[in-house]
Amino acid sequence: MELVNRRQFLKTGLVTATAISAAACTPRFLLEKISGETYHYRLTAEAADLTIRPGISTSGLGFNGQYPAPILKAKQGEVLRIEFVNKLDMATTIHWHGIRIVNAMDGVPFLTQAPIQPGETFIYEFTPPDAGTFWYHPHMHSVEQLGKGLVGLLIVEEREKPDFDFDESFALKNWHLNEDGTFKPLSIPRYAARMGTPGNYETVNGLHKPVVDVPAGGWLRLRFANIDNTLVYKLAVKDHPAYVVAIDANPLPEPLLLKDYSIGAGMRVDIIIKAPKNVGEDIIVQNGKGKLFFTLLALKTVASTVRNRDKAPRLPLNPLPEPDLKNAETKGFVFEWEGAVTPISKQGKAQHKFWTINRRSWSGMSEQQQPEPLAVLQLGKTYIFDLKNNTPHMHPIHLHGVMFKVLKSSKKKIHPHFADTVLLAKNERVKIAFVADNPGNWMYHCHVIEHMKTGLMGYISVA
Ligand code: C2O
Ligand code: CU
Ligand code: CU
Repeated sequence: MELVNRRQFLKTGLVTATAISAAACTPRFLLEKISGETYHYRLTAEAADLTIRPGISTSGLGFNGQYPAPILKAKQGEVLRIEFVNKLDMATTIHWHGIRIVNAMDGVPFLTQAPIQPGETFIYEFTPPDAGTFWYHPHMHSVEQLGKGLVGLLIVEEREKPDFDFDESFALKNWHLNEDGTFKPLSIPRYAARMGTPGNYETVNGLHKPVVDVPAGGWLRLRFANIDNTLVYKLAVKDHPAYVVAIDANPLPEPLLLKDYSIGAGMRVDIIIKAPKNVGEDIIVQNGKGKLFFTLLALKTVASTVRNRDKAPRLPLNPLPEPDLKNAETKGFVFEWEGAVTPISKQGKAQHKFWTINRRSWSGMSEQQQPEPLAVLQLGKTYIFDLKNNTPHMHPIHLHGVMFKVLKSSKKKIHPHFADTVLLAKNERVKIAFVADNPGNWMYHCHVIEHMKTGLMGYISVA
């Protein structure tokens, strides 16, 4: 029974709140629409009884008490309003990862808003200028809040929706779970100082190796989102042509044939596939570790009435400002390992600082104390960030408030593309560029949550 319901979810997860009636859908996946407005939701963060391992309950955290979290659906250029209620026993904020948002709505404690205390409500309201696959998560106590389940997808639909026969998202998360459903440690210092503490129970939309029905002969848009705290997923599709059409929400000018594509924590990639015409065929999506590939999920073709089309639907480009490289100013950022353990925090816990950006470790933000920005940028000007990873570990480096163009890498051929997060391999050097067109203080950090919590974090200021 459980399985049927959850399979059902995989197929209906993207249905709008408007289209769901309470009778037609289990409340578990119902997004409560508050008023007549289309994109107006109520969202809570709360303790929740989750079922991650089949038949075993885990006391975790959930948006609206559930995992997978409700998929928030918005429309490009239209107001999205979320009444957020903090029902946790600790403070939080919600960040809308990848949205070019007004600074006050960015959801970073102290930097852009006061922490939302237990019992408090905060109204987030913004208009997403770009369409694509985004996600949302707290930006406080992140190891625990994200690690225990507060991670959800935000799908911004194009003004004119491309005509796919199947359009579904796949949220990737590896849980730290014992056999009995209790949590293993979410962060272990010796791992935090290396690649991060990996989970041990792999899920796609909350299911281990799910099988998803897809229309035979249809054009499929598969949106993969790495909402894990730690891992890199190396995605591949076995023995079947697949194309990368969008990276971190941004459609590419030309689709790229997928061999394998690595997404670090926080990153997304949209892939399209033409499903085989025959019913009952499997397409295997894999995750690579080293040279080996393992099944992540399977797509199974089912009878459908889709018309046969040779041409794939195209995604319209997002309205992103093109960096003016001729007049750009370059800023260098070096990511290094330091391995210091500062003795004791105010709460009496050992505070580890392992990572630095330009020799600085994040000293934390509070009402009383605001560290200097890592860089001050002039509004409207183009900047090239020259990123150097002087460590033997991978870092998905994320910048809030803008989409940057990934220009080149010292290690691989880059097809220049826009992104909000770029994965640096060990000792890799990457150049990115963007127009600093969004005023405010914007977080700039590694999305391996333990790295960010142990120093690999800072912010830039655009004014
Ligand atoms: Cu997805 Cu600052 O984060
Ligand atoms: Cu972000
Ligand atoms: Cu990192």
